Amino acid sequence: MNELLHRYAAALESLDHQGLLRRLPPPGQCWRADFSGNDYMGLAKRPELVEAAAEAGRRYGAGATGSRLLSGNTPLHVELEARIAVDKGAEAALVFASGYQVNAACIAALLDRTALGAEPLVFADKLNHASMHLGCALAGVRQQRYKHLDLAHLEALLEKNAGDPRPKFILSESVFGMDGDQADIAALQGLSLRHGALLYIDEAHATGVFGPRGYGLCEAVSLAPTTVAMGTMSKALGVSGGYLACSLLLRDYLINRAGGFIFSTAPSPLMVGAALKAWELLPSLGAERAALLRRAEDLRQGLRSLGLDHGASSTHIVPVILSTPEAALCAKDTLAAQGILVSAVRPPTVPQGSSRLRIGLSAAHTDQDLDLLLAALGSL
Ligand SMILES: Cc1ncc(COP(=O)(O)O)c(C=O)c1O
Repeated sequence: MNELLHRYAAALESLDHQGLLRRLPPPGQCWRADFSGNDYMGLAKRPELVEAAAEAGRRYGAGATGSRLLSGNTPLHVELEARIAVDKGAEAALVFASGYQVNAACIAALLDRTALGAEPLVFADKLNHASMHLGCALAGVRQQRYKHLDLAHLEALLEKNAGDPRPKFILSESVFGMDGDQADIAALQGLSLRHGALLYIDEAHATGVFGPRGYGLCEAVSLAPTTVAMGTMSKALGVSGGYLACSLLLRDYLINRAGGFIFSTAPSPLMVGAALKAWELLPSLGAERAALLRRAEDLRQGLRSLGLDHGASSTHIVPVILSTPEAALCAKDTLAAQGILVSAVRPPTVPQGSSRLRIGLSAAHTDQDLDLLLAALGSL
């Protein structure tokens, strides 16, 4: 084999050795019950969304044809952003083709030392998503990572740096995607205001599921002009794409400085049409949200009675923490043999020693699905 390609082959072999090799699952498989997705409100296949996408396609085409700054700015993009801004209690919003792109592009731009006049100080929850780390890495910033959800640790770090005049930032998810636990947004915002820091909240897993109308954990908090909230349309909204809700000033800045916005084709009208429909449906899904969270509590109770560890989950995301990558893969295979699909999550997605099954509950699951899952977990 060519010397260069041999290096990639060796890297793959090493991953395989550690039980960390990733493979695409065979497409189109049928499962008795599927807990591996993020379609938390069961919207992905709703006919209204499919029809909204088709209608948007008929009016504006299948593709946006260019960046928002060129030919890709349709009235639908503007309408979706206006709705998101109002419902998140922000002055403005900006949509992107994916949530990953929001974090990579917006965090990198917000941390830009040329604009800030100094390298910023960034305080980040230890379990933040990879796309948030990427934003920091693109800005060349070293993060000070506080212990997961430990606001006393965050406060101690902020106090330690209180005399440092450089701009400060706090980055956290609201519902954590791999642990299913929740940050205290009001307390984070309080700390950010006391220390003059910009607070950046990732609502990828809270959007659609939490908040009085389903618009995320930030819905219960009045957002300060220095708090920004991103979210995705790819999970509970059942579509794809991401948004950032922020002040008008920051929106103008990001339109000028966020590379993933400037140099990328605007999200397809198909996606924007469907996402707008899903966004509008959220307030009507209060009963489904309550049932989803009740089922999650039933699952956690079932896991405890089987002696399984669900960590600190308090949401629709429930891990079963097992330790080694091999243990997680073996448990996934045992469930798959019974027709039940769950994800096995291994490092680097989660810390060493905490490989797990990740169960993503959806409003589309039934009590029977949950019974099947618990029976299969009982056979581990
Ligand atoms: C916390 C968090 N933020 C951002 C993203 C990226 O979102 P998207 O899948 O829309 O790119 C994810 C995806 O899993 C996530 O878990």
